[in-house]
Amino acid sequence: MKILGIETSCDETAAAVAVGNNESVKIISNVISSQINIHKKYGGVVPEVAAREHVPNILPVINEALINANIPPFTNGKRPKAGGIDAIAVAVGPGLVTSLLVGAETAKTLSMAWNIPVIPVQHIEGHIYANFIGSDKDIKYPAVILTVSGGHTLLINMKGHKQLDTIGETRDDAAGEAFDKAAKMLGLEYPGGPVIATKAAELKTANRESRINLPRPMLGSPDLDFSFSGLKTALLYALQKDTDWKNKIPEYAYEFQQAIIDVLIAKTIKATKDHKAKTVMLTGGVAANLELREQLKNKVKSELNLDLIIPDLKYTTDNAAMIASAGYFKAKNNKHIDWRDLTIDCNLSL
Ligand code: KG4
Ligand code: ZN
Repeated sequence: MKILGIETSCDETAAAVAVGNNESVKIISNVISSQINIHKKYGGVVPEVAAREHVPNILPVINEALINANIPPFTNGKRPKAGGIDAIAVAVGPGLVTSLLVGAETAKTLSMAWNIPVIPVQHIEGHIYANFIGSDKDIKYPAVILTVSGGHTLLINMKGHKQLDTIGETRDDAAGEAFDKAAKMLGLEYPGGPVIATKAAELKTANRESRINLPRPMLGSPDLDFSFSGLKTALLYALQKDTDWKNKIPEYAYEFQQAIIDVLIAKTIKATKDHKAKTVMLTGGVAANLELREQLKNKVKSELNLDLIIPDLKYTTDNAAMIASAGYFKAKNNKHIDWRDLTIDCNLSL
């Protein structure tokens, strides 16, 4: 089954083609047009600007994804015959309403023109299915999935393709959001996660230790929830007290990153034990963080004797390959719909 995936939830315009077979998905093309350089100067994503940028980008991005997958693009409005697409998967929420609309309306138009069904995909569900890309994944259920992005920090208990239960979540800021806000305080650019990671790595490379101490909120709490807002405030107070902070940016970056990693790891291990999970997965934009990948992998091995499953780096931050992957599994379960019934929901939950 061949699926065209479309993703426009936030500031990436993305399209991908996936081929699904049984329990594995192969990506045959993956195109992303990022708007990061446009939003950088505002210090964050400006919703109206994001939507306007998606409009001229969406069709060229889809066209490129089809060409890269050797599919004849838009042949007189007819469904391409050779290597034809079977269904279109599109992210329908959560996300920025006007951005989501661009992807959804494009998916509907193609669905009508090509006479193939559309598959609505929840964005977080997409992140989860980034872990199903590739043929080497040995996923057993129940599986605990730590999903960490700019908008969400969730622990999910996956009991199978039809059951994704949220067992823990952030009570305030998401992990990615905390990275972005901390970077702003430190005078670093948007998005904050990758810059903080780079600064933190400078300290490690120099073989130095951080002299900063920040709290690990909710580390020992009996539930599986998170809270990162207090950590952000603790950083703010520490910077206000420290007249020399501009000379210690790698130290602050290192400690802030480690505080987040410590809590994420502790809660993921607890969730796996509590729910007797047989697989542990990490996903979402923050899963691009190399320290988090490495430290979680080591802890999952040493404490649980399991191999952590993580997506390739290119499938961590927003992309359409993950949407196509989720779409394949939904199509397999007959979750495709008629284009007339496709709607978006900017607060759509799992
Ligand atoms: O999944 P994603 O692309 O978009 C949302 O669904 O929100 O995640 C974006 C988030 C941003 O907050 C960004 O700062 C964070 O992922 N991020 C990182 C890294 N790369 C991206 N956080 C920590 N370390 C990174 N290397
Ligand atoms: Zn995302």
